[in-house]
Amino acid sequence: MQTLSATEVLNDPHTDFLPLQGTDYVEFYVGNAKQAAHFYKTAFGFQSLAYAGPETGVKDKVSYVIRQNKLTYVLTTPVRLNNYIADHIYKHGDGVKVLALKVDDASLAWEETTKRGGKSYLEPEKIHDEFGEAVISGIHTYGETVHLFIERKNYSGPFLPGYKKWESSYNPPSTGLLYVDHCVGNVGWNQMNVWVKFYEEVMGFRNILTFDDKDISTEYSALMSKVMSNGNGFVKFPINEPAEGKKKSQVEEYLEFYNGEGVQHIALATNNIIETVGELQRRGVEFLKIPSSYYEKVFDRVGHIDEDLKPLQKLGILVDKDDEGYLLQIFSKPLQDRPTLFFEIIQRKGAKSFRKGNFQALFEALEREQEARGNL
Ligand code: FE2
Repeated sequence: MQTLSATEVLNDPHTDFLPLQGTDYVEFYVGNAKQAAHFYKTAFGFQSLAYAGPETGVKDKVSYVIRQNKLTYVLTTPVRLNNYIADHIYKHGDGVKVLALKVDDASLAWEETTKRGGKSYLEPEKIHDEFGEAVISGIHTYGETVHLFIERKNYSGPFLPGYKKWESSYNPPSTGLLYVDHCVGNVGWNQMNVWVKFYEEVMGFRNILTFDDKDISTEYSALMSKVMSNGNGFVKFPINEPAEGKKKSQVEEYLEFYNGEGVQHIALATNNIIETVGELQRRGVEFLKIPSSYYEKVFDRVGHIDEDLKPLQKLGILVDKDDEGYLLQIFSKPLQDRPTLFFEIIQRKGAKSFRKGNFQALFEALEREQEARGNL
């Protein structure tokens, strides 16, 4: 395992040709956006933000935009036949289509990435309404997933041109989720390094951490992972691929049910993971179970932490550390019927990176679920 500390990445003197201000939004193609919006509001504490659909002049789809702090989700459903969104859902089930990145100049972002070999998804397009102008462009990444570059410095509307403010009298309280910490992609056999190269060459990212199949394996299955980070560390995209084992890797199970490569999980940051996860569990969000033996040696591994062990153990929250501090994290169960997308909740206390301590425990927890589904 090789690591570069987050500070080394942040202090990298090379000029960033793709300066990213962070994740702008995540768009999901889902079977029923109206119900999905209600689920994410009720269970996760998002608020209504904006809407586009037949009432706003969009004929073939509806999109609900919800927000919690700096975390913005767009939930989109087709309402007509012969529609590319319907095809996407038929093939993949509910899943992430767009990882949108906030930039200062979307035209330049498109030019810099496509000239380095990025495949264009959307040429720079200016869109406007009474609140001003936004520019959007985009490139393809793994599977049918895309990155959109969003330039909104001259726009003051609720979300983007074409969307109307969505006001609702139903506003469940926040659960303390703040922003996207990282977003993980599952890719096919021997494809991890292909996509590592893509993020390095096309988007100027750096490989800050590598887990090989010896780091993450059980008696039965294995996976490999490389963490890619942009220059300022605001955007991190770990890439997983399956590794050989006696039985089927969890990445293979994903690839089988998603019918291809795609987003495996989105990690959502909080400043108080005990409160956030406690509230999410009260609202019915299900998390992976961690065996109590995990907590027996946790202090030997990470040393002192500010939190009491009891609530962490009760909620199933894991603790890990790097050179700069520690982090607390937990994985949800899949958010739809297919064993594909799930969320991670993460609180960083100094730690800017990841270490392999938790990866093994999480891997084993995922494998127990996989076995229960008969897919191991
Ligand atoms: Fe993660």
